Amino acid sequence: MSKLILLSLEGKKLPRPPFWFMRQAGRYLPEYRDIRKRASSFLDLCYQPEIASEITLQPIRRFHPDAAILFSDILVIPDALGQKLEFKEGVGPCLDPIRTAIELKSLSLKSCDKKLSPILETIKYVKEKLPEDVALIGFAGSPWTVATYMVEGGTSRNFISIKKWARNDPNSFNKLMDIIVDSTCDYIIGQIEAGADVIQLFDTWASAVPADQFQKLVIEPTQKIINRVRKIKPKTKFIGFPKGIGSAISYYAKETGVNCLSIDSSISPEIAAKCLHPKYTIQGNLDPIALLVGGNSMLNSADNIIKTLNNGPFIFNLGHGIVPETPPENVELLADFIRSRGKG
Ligand code: CP3
Repeated sequence: MSKLILLSLEGKKLPRPPFWFMRQAGRYLPEYRDIRKRASSFLDLCYQPEIASEITLQPIRRFHPDAAILFSDILVIPDALGQKLEFKEGVGPCLDPIRTAIELKSLSLKSCDKKLSPILETIKYVKEKLPEDVALIGFAGSPWTVATYMVEGGTSRNFISIKKWARNDPNSFNKLMDIIVDSTCDYIIGQIEAGADVIQLFDTWASAVPADQFQKLVIEPTQKIINRVRKIKPKTKFIGFPKGIGSAISYYAKETGVNCLSIDSSISPEIAAKCLHPKYTIQGNLDPIALLVGGNSMLNSADNIIKTLNNGPFIFNLGHGIVPETPPENVELLADFIRSRGKG
């Protein structure tokens, strides 16, 4: 049986759009919270293949989407490079920030493979249990977004430290970006060898990059990753998610070589279709809060998106991740609604 997501990524227009949801595994699911409260930390979950594969499969059993996404996090890269990382309850990720050429020396690519190997094991476990027509999405953070966490020490509001470093000492800052690119390439190649069907690159903070540095900090590192991975694995399909970049999305598509653009909820489906179809597959873009609210208002918004974007290659998704307060019943209602579009 063929995987609908892969057909869509090959540029095919389908009777109903395939779908999955960003953060489909996570705190809004009681079965996730159950496992989570027994684990000592979130990172612990990521590095235990039995548990991480079970969490990956939880939303598949409930909602039967067309893809699973590996349960892990973009911040396993700094962790594997040796940066101290902790996910604090109610706070989020906390890292010992790296802000200078000297502090860069504490990072090492040597331990990466070993540290990340349990995650590749998770992929193998998931593949054994995943229905044949469901794709497995592997992922990584884009270098700029990963670097924001490494330099700011956590989620940032105004990105002062990273912007200062990138301007004041571009040479050493580029070294940081290169370390992230190198480790991410190896990690993605490992994910594909373990069985990932597609790779999504999350550039959640792309919108924080000033226009005059967009090429250097968003486009070039993404190009490097895609080109290098495709040198080894030529058929690799990439979904890019440069969140919040607005009209620069067409330029990003053309320059980076992604197959599919994951668009956030601020981009109108009409404009996205005009700029990107039929050459590129579009993924998105229901507002996660529409999903939280549910009911007809959610279904009307979803219907509008499908009417516009399913005229070309399209994967239904959200504009960003499911928020923890979302009732799982709303996700079920939405999944049934999308599936029903393929009937009759
Ligand atoms: O279901 C899935 O989408 C797969 C798993 C996944 C997680 N994080 C699990 C997670 C994926 C793809 C990510 C990506 C990720 N992680 C991004 C890019 C996408 C985005 O959301 O913008 C970013 C920026 C991160 C970094 C990160 N991880 C933050 C800022 C936080 C804390 C805030 C939050 O949302 O909780 C995390 C923690 C995290 N990653 C959780 C999960 C399920 C919650 C951890 C918990 O159980 O306490």
